[in-house]
Amino acid sequence: MSFYSPVRLNSAEADASDRLHLFKFVDDPDQSNLDTFEGHGGYKALRHVLSSMQPAEVIETVKASGLRGRGGAGFPTGMKWGFVPKDSPKPRYLVCNADESEPGTCKDRVIMERDPHAMIEGMAIASYAIGSHLMFVYIRGEFAHCHDQVEKAMAQAYEKGYLGKNIFGSGYDLEMIVHTGGGAYICGEETALLNSIEGHKGMSRIRPPFPAVEGLYACPTIVNNVESLTAVPHIINRGAEWYKSLGTDKSSGSKLFSLSGHVKQPGNYEVELGFNLKTMIYDSAYGGGILGDKKLKGVIPGGASTPFLTPDLIDVGLDYESIVEKGSMLGSGAIIVFHEDTCIVWVIKKLIHFFRHESCGKCTPCRDGTGWLEQMINRIEAGQGKPGDIDKIDEVCGNILGRTVCPLGDAAVMPIQSSIKLFRDEWEYHIKHGKCLVKSDFKF
Ligand SMILES: Cc1cc2nc3c(=O)[nH]c(=O)nc-3n(C[C@H](O)[C@H](O)[C@H](O)COP(=O)(O)O)c2cc1C
Ligand code: SF4
Repeated sequence: MSFYSPVRLNSAEADASDRLHLFKFVDDPDQSNLDTFEGHGGYKALRHVLSSMQPAEVIETVKASGLRGRGGAGFPTGMKWGFVPKDSPKPRYLVCNADESEPGTCKDRVIMERDPHAMIEGMAIASYAIGSHLMFVYIRGEFAHCHDQVEKAMAQAYEKGYLGKNIFGSGYDLEMIVHTGGGAYICGEETALLNSIEGHKGMSRIRPPFPAVEGLYACPTIVNNVESLTAVPHIINRGAEWYKSLGTDKSSGSKLFSLSGHVKQPGNYEVELGFNLKTMIYDSAYGGGILGDKKLKGVIPGGASTPFLTPDLIDVGLDYESIVEKGSMLGSGAIIVFHEDTCIVWVIKKLIHFFRHESCGKCTPCRDGTGWLEQMINRIEAGQGKPGDIDKIDEVCGNILGRTVCPLGDAAVMPIQSSIKLFRDEWEYHIKHGKCLVKSDFKF
């Protein structure tokens, strides 16, 4: 029995290509074992860094590569590492964010299940770069198999001397802790995650101070996504220039996209940034077209918290800048596709239920606002909408957007506002006729 993620992967293509690297070996059933990982060049970058690079050089290399965080915000990774105060007498910590809680996202899971040493090697290099001697990985509670795979890999790494005291005689010590979350979406937000590791409720912290200055146990802490860290050994092995040659000018490298919803071939696909979204949905090597050969209605391109794109907007590069130009965001790279028979009001009802449920309750606009939105949207979907409801929903959204402690509030309202802008006819029909505009009630 296989515990592997039941998703389609384009690893064969990644293997044939010199440019795609994150998924290159994920189809090898033995890749999670240390010997196989080493046979594929694993831990070479860590050995090189420890034997012949200064921490500052590692940071400069990652800066020069243009790597941007794959957790959602796309913040430059090397620049973030550079924010750790050089003169702080406190310990520093590296935290790998493996909460993977954004609906639609299931890419980090594949790395942890199939290639966990790749993540550990990236974490170790990042730790060395920022001067940390203790690193954590915070794994989403539901990912029991990921947890097992990472713990197994960690034990192998300790045994072989890639972790522990005086790693390969370099004088550098590094310990690792695997921490399992309780399955809360908010614990993917970096400050709530740090609170959770400390044993507090998973609630976001007010910033500043930012974690790089005052994070875990009030010490300088860098939080990075699994995919961001997994890219680092490749940058060390192949060089910043090579990495910069992948993708687009401002969005370099390759990225993992989780394609789901009404496509014939949902899966996790690695492509260079800038890859065309329409090709991703329709090409037989990727999504293979819309389920039942129906018409496309809309796409959420970056996880449940990003605005919709309509079919006229999908001829666009999957990179941080191009998607913004079309009115949405790349986010975590979770592309959710909806066909013509999807009721958008129903989709929004599901989303707001999720965000209301996951709000940590710390700030009033998000805590109360998501509750009001859920009540109004449920009423409309149940056929009891009233004239003026749409404007009221839009107004409540406007009072949440940009007024909360963490971005969960923005995440909750952006899809709602974009659905009103792009699919207002469906909202109005629901209110006027008490039912969906779409012919079928097909849902997924
Ligand atoms: C509500 C919320 C949930 C988040 N969930 C995740 C997550 O599951 N995984 C993740 O890496 N980042 C998540 N983030 C982003 C993190 O706060 C943080 O920006 C990220 O881990 C930084 O890593 P990166 O620089 O490598 O992208 C979330 C943010 C918010 C606001
Ligand atoms: S925006 Fe929501 S989730 Fe974030 S701190 Fe405020 S209440 Fe908590």
